[in-house]
Order: sequence, then structure tokens, then C-alpha cells
Amino acid sequence: EDDRIAGISSVIRVIRDFPKPGILFQDITTLLLNHKAFKDTIDLFVERYKDKDISVVAGIEARGFIFGPPIALAIGAKFVPIRKPKKLPGEVITEEYSLEYGTDKMEMHVGAVQEGEHALIVDDLIATGGTLSAAIRLLERVGVHVVECACVIELPELKGRDRLGDKPLFVLVS
Ligand code: PRP
Ligand code: MG
Repeated sequence: EDDRIAGISSVIRVIRDFPKPGILFQDITTLLLNHKAFKDTIDLFVERYKDKDISVVAGIEARGFIFGPPIALAIGAKFVPIRKPKKLPGEVITEEYSLEYGTDKMEMHVGAVQEGEHALIVDDLIATGGTLSAAIRLLERVGVHVVECACVIELPELKGRDRLGDKPLFVLVS
């Protein structure tokens, strides 16, 4: 297991000054190029969640759409996309979250999930935790129990975990 994590960590490319000066961007596209690392990533999540009675995997646009669907298929859950505003065509509910400057929004289709379902939320990375906190609120508003949030990468210095309240967060690489 530690070997798998080390392998995953070793193929995440770090790019300086993207998208802005001073940012060290964690690029998962290089992980996707490596079959073993990509498979190990999905397998580690599947091993953790396969017997947890999760009926919904909610993935966050855009990079949560890469990791969420293979996990959903493997654990026998449906996949629900949580998207940026004005992308989903049906009736939606919306949650706002604060950024360093200003706010952003995330949306989910009404009717995609039912009250009482158990969900896993998947994204590639947690930074400030704003995105995941909005996703948690979207699901909880409609009576879904969020079992856990799962990310490939955490940037611990940004303390995003604190923004998730008592919701558990599982990450592979910190
Ligand atoms: C990135 C990342 C997470 C989010 C984390 O998405 O993929 O979704 O930021 O940041 P936070 O914890 O501070 O909210 P971004 O919207 O930048 O791009 P994407 O559409 O490529 O996923
Ligand atoms: Mg994202």
C-alpha cells in the first residue's frame, strides 16, 4: 500500500507559477499517463469504499469527473456530476462558496439523488476546501448522507479540512 502511494505521488507533476506566479500547481495529467499509477489510485479508493453501502458517487467538475466514474462503476454506485453554474440542463439546486477574492457556485440536478441515500464525494484535490464544502451542502440539502470525501491530493497548509466540519476526508497524497 505504501508502495502504491509512493508510486502515485512520484508521477504527479508539480508546475511552478501556474496559473499565477507563486502557485505550485499539482498536475494529475501525468498520473493518468501511467497505467499502474492510475489503476492503483482507483483501486485504493475502491478497496476502501466497496463494502460501505454507497449508492452515489458525486464527482466535482472538472477533475473529479476523471476519478469519480471508475470508482462508481467498481463499487456498484451511480455517478452524479456536480457542475459549475449554467452547465446542467435540468432543474438544479445551487450552493455558493467563497474564494480568496469573491465567490463561486456549484450545481446539482434535482432528482439525481434521493433522500436517505449514502454518498461519496470525489475530487482530485482539496486546497481551501471551498469546493468540497459546497458539494457537501448540496447533497445534505436534499437529505443525502455524505459518508466521506475522497481526494487524490491534499494541500494541508491551506487547512481545507477544517472547512468540512465533521465530515471525514480521505486523501492518498498529502
Ligand atoms: C481545483 C481542484 C478542486 C478545487 C480545489 O478545481 O480540481 O476542484 O480546485 O480548491 P478548493 O479546495 O480551494 O475549493 P478548479 O476549479 O481549479 O479546476 P478544474 O475545473 O480543472 O477541476
Ligand atoms: Mg476541480
